[in-house]
Amino acid sequence: MTPKTFHRQVFWLTAAGILVLLISIFFAVSPVNAKPPFQETEKYCLTCHGDSTLSMTLPSGETLSLYVAQDDLDHSLHSIVGIECEACHNNISEYPHPKTEFETKRDLSLAYYQTCEKCHSVNYEKTQDSMHAQAAAAGNANAPVCTDCHGSHDVSPSNEPRSRISVTCAKCHTEIVEPYRQSVHGAALMKDENPDVPVCTTCHGVHNIQDPRTNQFRVDQPEMCAGCHADQNLMDKYGLSADVYNIYKRSWHGVDVSVYKAKWPTIWHDSAVCSDCHGIHDIRATGDPASMVNKENLLATCQKCHPSAGPNWTDAWTGHNEISLERTPFLFYVEKFYGSFTPFILWGCVIYVILQIIRSTVDRVRSNRS
Ligand code: HEC
Ligand code: HEC
Ligand code: HEC
Ligand code: HEC
Ligand code: HEC
Ligand code: HEC
Ligand code: HEC
Ligand code: HEC
Ligand code: HEC
Repeated sequence: MTPKTFHRQVFWLTAAGILVLLISIFFAVSPVNAKPPFQETEKYCLTCHGDSTLSMTLPSGETLSLYVAQDDLDHSLHSIVGIECEACHNNISEYPHPKTEFETKRDLSLAYYQTCEKCHSVNYEKTQDSMHAQAAAAGNANAPVCTDCHGSHDVSPSNEPRSRISVTCAKCHTEIVEPYRQSVHGAALMKDENPDVPVCTTCHGVHNIQDPRTNQFRVDQPEMCAGCHADQNLMDKYGLSADVYNIYKRSWHGVDVSVYKAKWPTIWHDSAVCSDCHGIHDIRATGDPASMVNKENLLATCQKCHPSAGPNWTDAWTGHNEISLERTPFLFYVEKFYGSFTPFILWGCVIYVILQIIRSTVDRVRSNRS
């Protein structure tokens, strides 16, 4: 081989290399290649499951529709990131399918939802020690699993719009969601998707929902409400006092509850927490005639725990308010009086004692001299 032919070969080899490189770069970024391969499986499965009349009869006698709507898939967050049928139905890749052992529709859901764990192990772990899992373990087949709250083929963001969360819980807890929607918090959510008010999951958590009727949950409650009601900026926005928590903490009830929280968090104690006076899922604005703390209803609210309380009881009570000249003039003057009278007496005592000491010292010095 002459040096000339050698150089020519090197030239052509390099040129061919560059060409191959360019072609592969072109296909890597070109839209032709961006078409996700998953649509192939989807297309295959949907040749049968895209038929809205396809169904099967389960041993329980229930009819199971086998229709998977293209429209649901199009909107599912999973399709967007390229997750295909086989990711969840990993036992099925072609027809005929392996024989099923599902007695009921619920059996099928309970079997297939397990595949969520593969990619969402953190949430899966959390659900395992929730109230819902406990109910399932106790044999309640209606206790929710992932797909009851999220769906399976049409998974969409669970908190958009925000009111969707209460709709999800309402599937099974209507008796709680209805009063919640009428409450000051729920009404603000339903009306304008207000992001400042609490939804079900703000107070209960999402996947690790615990029993809200324990004493621990009860003694933690004032801090739960304070998360928003002691936030000055947030409360200013609604013209509400941000002092309710601080003043509550100083009240008899508040002190009582914090002592229990610190020392005996698991022992039930009746001293009032926020919800005993305001309600839980049915909290109303103070001015609302249905509010438990409205003037008309307040005495009855106190009487739940103080059966012998009379009207004077609520009149004398300062509630969440600092003692003030406008609202409670009598208490204001009593407080002012003691505010100056007590130091006056104390200083008087101190001066008296000092004078006594001086006097006795002077006396002793004099008697020593004489
Ligand atoms: C040729 C038509 C056909 C194709 C293609 C097909 N299926 Fe099916 N599928 C059926 C029929 C019919 C049933 C009812 C039960 C049976 O006959 O096995 C069924 C049942 C099912 C069930 C419910 C019962 C079970 O076995 O869990 C699932 C889930 C399922 N198919 C998923 C898929 C997936 C995923 C694909 C694509 C990989 C697919 N199918 C492709 C016809 C089809
Ligand atoms: C994110 C996981 C996931 C993906 C992806 C998925 N499925 Fe399912 N599928 C499930 C679950 C879970 C069930 C059990 C029913 C339930 O709980 O809603 C189910 C049930 C089914 C059933 C039984 C009928 C029914 O609706 O209950 C068929 C048929 C089925 N899937 C077919 C498909 C096909 C075809 C695809 C792809 C186009 C697909 N699935 C993609 C999770 C998935
Ligand atoms: C193969 C892995 C995989 C499987 C199996 C899977 N997911 Fe997902 N899931 C994802 C990915 C990836 C995302 C998108 C994450 C993102 O956009 O942040 C997602 C998103 C979600 C979201 C939306 C989260 C949000 O931002 O609101 C929910 C809810 C969800 N999955 C529930 C499920 C359920 C229920 C199942 C079982 C039926 C399931 N997933 C099975 C991978 C998976
Ligand atoms: C009782 C109903 C319920 C059950 C059961 C449930 N979720 Fe959720 N999930 C929700 C709600 C509601 C949200 C939105 C919470 C929020 O934004 O406050 C959510 C949020 C999510 C998110 C997005 C936020 C995040 O944490 O990443 C994913 C992913 C998710 N869930 C997956 C799952 C999986 C997987 C399971 C089953 C192991 C499951 N969920 C069980 C109601 C539920
Ligand atoms: C598919 C039905 C279903 C859905 C959806 C559901 N739950 Fe439940 N929930 C149950 C069942 C069943 C129990 C157990 C009740 C029992 O044992 O008496 C339960 C128990 C609870 C408990 C414990 C108190 C009690 O009564 O045992 C709380 C708190 C709770 N759910 C909150 C929620 C919240 C918040 C949501 C929405 C994010 C939600 N649930 C969605 C069915 C559901
Ligand atoms: C502001 C906080 C808060 C919000 C918001 C909230 N809850 Fe509760 N929830 C509580 C408290 C506190 C309890 C404990 C009640 C008790 O002591 O009996 C409770 C109790 C429960 C119980 C137990 C059963 C019962 O009758 O007491 C369920 C179920 C429940 N809530 C579901 C929900 C659902 C569903 C939503 C959304 C519509 C919701 N909660 C919104 C604080 C809240
Ligand atoms: C996530 C923040 C948040 C939490 C947690 C919260 N709230 Fe609220 N609350 C608000 C906001 C915001 C408003 C004002 C809503 C409006 O006026 O539209 C409000 C309004 C109220 C009102 C009506 C005040 C009036 O007279 O107008 C009462 C009473 C109340 N909340 C009590 C509670 C109690 C009790 C708890 C705890 C069990 C609690 N809230 C937990 C944000 C919260
Ligand atoms: C012993 C009963 C009682 C307890 C406990 C109680 N409240 Fe109140 N709350 C009232 C009464 C009565 C009013 C209306 C009159 C007033 O403002 O004092 C009120 C008013 C309010 C208001 C409206 C304030 C405004 O600016 O109009 C909010 C918000 C509130 N409470 C939140 C709470 C929170 C949060 C807790 C727990 C930390 C709590 N309350 C504990 C009785 C109570
Ligand atoms: C959930 C029950 C409950 C509710 C509702 C309740 N209290 Fe109390 N309250 C208690 C308990 C328990 C004590 C502590 C008694 C003790 O330690 O001996 C207490 C103590 C008090 C005390 C100081 C001690 C005393 O007995 O004089 C006052 C004042 C008081 N409450 C006023 C009220 C007023 C006013 C209301 C209504 C706005 C109210 N309470 C609602 C349970 C409650």
